[in-house]
Amino acid sequence: MKKELNTLAANVARLSNLLTRERETLPFPYLKDKGLREAYILYYLPANMYKIHVPLRELSLHPAGIFRKERLRVLDLGSGPGTAILGVMGFFSASAWADKPSLEFTAVDPIEENLRDAEKLFQSFKDDTLVGASLLTIKSGIGMMKSLPKGPFDMIILSNVLSEVFHPVRHPELVSGSQTMPGQEIPKQVRDDREAGKTGRLDYRLNLLKSLINRSLAGDGSCIIIEPALRATSRELLEVRDGLLREGLHIYSPCLMNDPCPALINPKDWCHEDIPWEPPAAILEIDKLTGLRKDSLKFSWLIIRKDTLSLSDIFGNNPFRVVSEPLISKGKIEYYLCGAGGRRLAVRFDKDKSKLNEPFSSLKRGNIVSFQGLIDEGKRLRVGKDTIATTP
Ligand SMILES: C[S@@+](CC[C@H](N)C(=O)[O-])C[C@H]1O[C@@H](n2cnc3c(N)ncnc32)[C@H](O)[C@@H]1O
Repeated sequence: MKKELNTLAANVARLSNLLTRERETLPFPYLKDKGLREAYILYYLPANMYKIHVPLRELSLHPAGIFRKERLRVLDLGSGPGTAILGVMGFFSASAWADKPSLEFTAVDPIEENLRDAEKLFQSFKDDTLVGASLLTIKSGIGMMKSLPKGPFDMIILSNVLSEVFHPVRHPELVSGSQTMPGQEIPKQVRDDREAGKTGRLDYRLNLLKSLINRSLAGDGSCIIIEPALRATSRELLEVRDGLLREGLHIYSPCLMNDPCPALINPKDWCHEDIPWEPPAAILEIDKLTGLRKDSLKFSWLIIRKDTLSLSDIFGNNPFRVVSEPLISKGKIEYYLCGAGGRRLAVRFDKDKSKLNEPFSSLKRGNIVSFQGLIDEGKRLRVGKDTIATTP
């Protein structure tokens, strides 16, 4: 038992390295490695499956009744073991709606073993779930548009896959079949090409998403993208976001405006969610052995739509998203807020604390807040004694 746990912990550490420090040279078929696949399912999946709940909750809040349908057709691209699919099932199963939609999933992944794992996990989840659901699996890369079903889909999900999609020309193993495996050295040419090809890969991802959305997303559908909360992957997602806006698509949330992303102005900034999560005992054990820590869910995310529905429709008074931790110092509390007008520092001095602005005391990253009587001082926004702060 101890030996098995140690082996699992070693594989988790190996996988963690590949997904962070060695991400730039991540070998495409790393989940073909049985040990890494097991590490992914036992360590990453239990946390990652909850991430999709955040965008789903925000979609469910819109008065247009985005999920008020008899069935929802969901395409999960780069599904791995079906993490997001399990998350969607869990979300609808736990919802209090009397008439839950039935869920029709299509999982796409180029690695056969992932799809077999997805089928097994789907089946065992389905037995405990209070929603009708079906699953079709398709072995394909995301770029092989012709082998993907046309849809239309109500949801297209890309969970932790976009940053793994490289330009095929700059990623020879995707086209030539000369696959490098984890632990095997990536040819220098491939590394150099990937580095030089940053613009190329952004354009490639942008074009891919544009085609996917135009081809397979329903007119009232949502494309949900989740990415790791690393600065590089998160900023690349923001660049893709701006590119999609330029193409005439719309952001439903987390952004509450459709202007270019202000986090891209300063190369040190990025934008991510961080929500508390209580890891199960097995994950705490692995954390002890590896020195990793999985005690909150950190990720960047985006909902893209063809129509103009936006989460901001349900908030009056110029809403803001909190995009930092509370910055508490002597005599004041500050946050970075993002909304129309960009990313702004907002301050409230302790002397100005009042019943009217009380919600400002306990904001958390990701919360939404609106104000009446907010003072714009140019360099920063100030919450005065008479400013009314409202959270939904
Ligand atoms: C980090 S895993 C994410 C799995 C799952 N979506 C999740 O959120 O846990 C990345 C997945 O993307 C798949 N993938 C990598 N490159 C891909 C490509 N070009 N097209 C489709 N899937 C790809 C991998 O096989 C792997 O299953």
